[in-house]
Amino acid sequence: VTKPLRIVLCGFGNVGREVYRLLCDESPRLERLGFSPVVVGIITRSRGHVYVPTGITSEHLQMLAPKDSAAVCTTRLIEQMSADVVVEMTPLDVFSAKDVMSHARAALTSGKHVVCANKGAIAWGYDELSALASAKARLFLFECCVMDGAPIFAMVRNCLPAARILKFEGVLNSTSNYVLDKMLEGVSMEEAITMAKRAGFAESDPRLDIDGWDSAAKIAALANVFMHARINPLEVVRQGITQITCEQVQAAARGAMRIRLVASAVQRQRDVLCEVKPCRVAHSSLFGSVNHTSSVLSITTDLMGNISIVEHDPGLLQTAYGVLRDIIEVASFNK
Ligand SMILES: NC(=O)c1ccc[n+]([C@@H]2O[C@H](COP(=O)([O-])OP(=O)(O)OC[C@H]3O[C@@H](n4cnc5c(N)ncnc54)[C@H](OP(=O)(O)O)[C@@H]3O)[C@@H](O)[C@H]2O)c1
Repeated sequence: VTKPLRIVLCGFGNVGREVYRLLCDESPRLERLGFSPVVVGIITRSRGHVYVPTGITSEHLQMLAPKDSAAVCTTRLIEQMSADVVVEMTPLDVFSAKDVMSHARAALTSGKHVVCANKGAIAWGYDELSALASAKARLFLFECCVMDGAPIFAMVRNCLPAARILKFEGVLNSTSNYVLDKMLEGVSMEEAITMAKRAGFAESDPRLDIDGWDSAAKIAALANVFMHARINPLEVVRQGITQITCEQVQAAARGAMRIRLVASAVQRQRDVLCEVKPCRVAHSSLFGSVNHTSSVLSITTDLMGNISIVEHDPGLLQTAYGVLRDIIEVASFNK
């Protein structure tokens, strides 16, 4: 008999719904891994919440509907719901991450593991939350915050012991990359943003992607985890793609170049320099060959040289897989 893992989904938008679907559809596969997930709680901002200790079914989902009454406090619900793990999937607040921080604190303080899709938590509070998690003997995991389910954090944590990361750079924002590719085809920036939003991979406010804020949050998150940089997104030197025109993208292509929004971090003597800016890269280079919603991260280490990971054309399934990977790690810990 497998031990049920009681899960609360905090946020039930694009990612939350896909995680719920994956947990339901893949339950036989998960049972074979010795784990049986039970979604006991779902919390939203404007459609209320559901808590069913025996497990939420599709009928219960009908109870999530726009509510007139004043919003219930999410942190209180997280504390009150009896569960093993809280999956945080509320929108990114790149300027303070206040909500995700209080949700994660409430979960850890009330003895629950935390799986975070919201990168605000590690871009603003990695040191605090990881210290709180170890004090409470709970896991704080966040694989899908950068490059969805591509195993960036798990790879560094598990496969690069003792290696020092000296620098890393990547094309990390799907929306900007997709928009630049569409501009090459002659689609206007505004139109391309609308297409990205419709497809569900743009941030709730897509300006955060185009202005480089999402990349800034990701590079701060990576630098905090890999280099103990203690940096937040506001401290990243940042330039987005708003000023880039279709003509510039097409002129670069005629010279066998591409424009890519590149995010980078370099360990200096006393601190870490994090930057986001549009760069011209050769079409034939690794960064130039990363098209549409694909992304890439290249890491330079002292003992293992350079390693690059490319994620090809991810969709919501790959984001949800990143969450599922972390939930499986929690289940193994919980056995
Ligand atoms: N989409 C992707 O491809 C992707 C990839 C990697 C990571 N992420 C990250 O995953 C997170 C979720 O993205 P998404 O696309 O699913 O966003 P979304 O579609 O906007 O959904 C956000 C959900 O969070 C709920 N919510 C907002 N504030 C809340 C609060 N204070 N308390 C409780 N619930 C709250 C919303 O409630 P209502 O339903 O009432 O609005 C909604 O259900 C974001 O942080 C994003 O950066 C997304």
